[in-house]
Amino acid sequence: MKKTKRYKSIDKRVITEGEKIDFTLYLSNETKTSMTLFLQSDSVVDSGEKFRLQQMERLYIEDEDSLCYEAYVQKHIQSIARAEDIPIDSKALIIYERATSVINEMFHNPESLETVKNTKPLVNTMVEVILRDSSAIESLMKITAHDYYTHTHSLNVSIYALTLGNHMGIEGSELERLGMAAMLHDIGKSKVDYEIINKNGILTEEEFDTMKNHSHLGHEIALKLGISDPKILSGIRHHHEMINGRGYPDQINGEKISPFARIIAVCDVFDALTTRRSYKNPMSTFEAIKLMKESMHEHLDMTILHSMIHMLRKR
Ligand SMILES: [Fe+2]
Repeated sequence: MKKTKRYKSIDKRVITEGEKIDFTLYLSNETKTSMTLFLQSDSVVDSGEKFRLQQMERLYIEDEDSLCYEAYVQKHIQSIARAEDIPIDSKALIIYERATSVINEMFHNPESLETVKNTKPLVNTMVEVILRDSSAIESLMKITAHDYYTHTHSLNVSIYALTLGNHMGIEGSELERLGMAAMLHDIGKSKVDYEIINKNGILTEEEFDTMKNHSHLGHEIALKLGISDPKILSGIRHHHEMINGRGYPDQINGEKISPFARIIAVCDVFDALTTRRSYKNPMSTFEAIKLMKESMHEHLDMTILHSMIHMLRKR
């Protein structure tokens, strides 16, 4: 029996002129009842085709080509970020979706060098978008997930850390390294019992002790992946240290906690408070900042928190 082909709509603006596609592109008639071939797989998109694409309303690929399409977006993510014809909200969405998928792979396969390699261009792209467009933070914040999952939490924290780091004057490769540390900060959770990570409720003391292992497990994974940058490593290992020295795993205090770890800690708490969990409603930005400012002096670096408040006010 002949298999019926399924199609999905894609963002036509990601198709880059002069690049080869390894999936077939289709157009649909007005009623979407039939598909017309537009460009065969293995073709290089020329300027005429790119122009014709711009006039089209929608573009489709076959469902079974989804992975090839995702790899294409991944490969061209930097040129997509630079494209003048893609509005910032759409760019933010494309980057966010790609990054979510890379982080999912990373948590499923935490010791794969390949997956970690994939996170790098994404972090760099986020840095580039944030630096090029002052409204990027707004677009990215609009789409940050509102329900708490470890994977999306890692992405939200890296978006906050990058914008906050940029606001604090961190630049270039230093900012990219901060983004990497934030993206990987909870990677150790991939080694903690799934039941504990996804528990529908507050953890028991014993479960919490197990959960606490994630920061040093994350540090171990990062070392295995060949990450040797002490700033990235400390961002992962020390994001749960507290200013008063009562955090974990090493109970270090104040400025002994690296700036990366202190920035990630602020972003980590902010995201945890502003996302929904099965046992709590999300706080608004205002409520979260108020709570952090009033009751977390012992925990967070208040200078960094004030930078975040200043950054959020400027939006
Ligand atoms: Fe954590």
